Amino acid sequence: MSETARLEYGGKSYTLPVVHGTENETAVDISNLRAESGLITLDDGYGNTGSCLSAITYIDGDKGILRYRGYAIEELAEQCSFAECAHLVMFGELPNRGQLDEFRRLLRVHSFIHEDMRHHFEGFPPNAPPMAILSAMINAVGCFQPEVTVVDDDANFLEAAARVMSKVRTIAAYSYKKSRGEPVIYPRADLRYTANFLHMMFSKPYEPFEPDNDIVRALDQIWVLHADHEQNCSTSTVRMVGSSQANLFASVAAGVCALWGPLHGGANQAVIEMLTQIQASGEPVSKFIERVKSKDSKSLLMGFGHRVYRNFDPRAKIIKASCDKVLAKLGIHDPLLDIAKQLEEAALRDEYFISRKLYPNVDFYSGIIMRAIGIPLNMFTVMFAIGRVPGWIANWREVRLNPKARIYRPRQIYVGPTAREYVPISRR
Ligand code: CMC
Repeated sequence: MSETARLEYGGKSYTLPVVHGTENETAVDISNLRAESGLITLDDGYGNTGSCLSAITYIDGDKGILRYRGYAIEELAEQCSFAECAHLVMFGELPNRGQLDEFRRLLRVHSFIHEDMRHHFEGFPPNAPPMAILSAMINAVGCFQPEVTVVDDDANFLEAAARVMSKVRTIAAYSYKKSRGEPVIYPRADLRYTANFLHMMFSKPYEPFEPDNDIVRALDQIWVLHADHEQNCSTSTVRMVGSSQANLFASVAAGVCALWGPLHGGANQAVIEMLTQIQASGEPVSKFIERVKSKDSKSLLMGFGHRVYRNFDPRAKIIKASCDKVLAKLGIHDPLLDIAKQLEEAALRDEYFISRKLYPNVDFYSGIIMRAIGIPLNMFTVMFAIGRVPGWIANWREVRLNPKARIYRPRQIYVGPTAREYVPISRR
């Protein structure tokens, strides 16, 4: 017999089904509760709400475990390219050689964006935030790809996914070129996904940029680490928008907007701003930590804490190790890395952070690698977005392929004024 939970309310008892995931997480299914009892559940900020069943990513926040489709993030980060990882995240299995070659071919052929799109870039002011450009341009490029709205089988979907992934990368590089007032650089057919991005970012018509293999690998790994993270703010947004049957481009553009904020993807930029500020002020790390703890300043230790991880974010460990390698390879000594390490050490010893289970998250060290590679600060969150696209696509697909899918539509508890009579303006 299947397990149930019982809820007593108003002298009545309600039986609720209990649902188990494959990793034994347990949930009480309340989908019929309102129909049976008139009650809804209230969970401001969704901290305790499972919004869907999903087979993509598993996180155990207490143990610091992250797996895509069952594979440990540590193994994927070590062995998998971003293209291979994206295929896994989106389609559920590691691609074989033929599948990977085909996916790479599609990424290559879809890397160009329609020439007319170039004029759209000209409409933005030079200092426009690249996240604004990215989101607007993803929607605009969707207008040139109406066929992508029809995604009815896997072959179709593979092509749609490659189009979105590839064009997002090209748009990101173009938005950087726009901000520099430099001519856009077309993708090269002989370069793979990540090397091609670096080429489009850093080549000039008169000066080709040859990406270094170790740097390509480091960036590829950052994107593997960002590829999915279950029901975070931007992914839930993509699912929400996709549930209304909005097309893939529109849904991904919405995900970009949700990612933009400093509490989500914007944290990688905020970390570097925080470290730069500490460096410029000459303030000792201990004093900054005291300020964060006092709460008066409303300062947070950016790059620390996570809604789900109450232990080390496994991505942060991998990025920290990569950070040391990349800086050594480039012969860079970045004083911000020293400050970051001091902050981490101080926080991990401090009762405030220990008792609240606050550890470094993925954003704490990723910015230092990107800075070393030459990615400008205002592009950091765009880099996160490029990495997260496979996860957004996979989640959008999961919503669209679910035969029982309904539009996402939470309820609320209304706490505003009760009914009152309209007062004409002359009497107000
Ligand atoms: N610095 C100082 N205090 C913090 C921090 C921090 N970074 N994070 C949480 N706290 C405190 C918070 O004020 C609260 O204190 P109290 O119990 O006294 O009220 C306590 O810790 C518990 O907070 P929480 O319930 O963990 O917060 P949350 O789950 O609502 O928020 C978070 C999670 C990631 C938004 C938050 O930890 C934060 O703002 N961190 C800094 C921004 C950041 O690094 N964001 C990137 C997240 S990882 C990548 C991504 O998802 O995009």
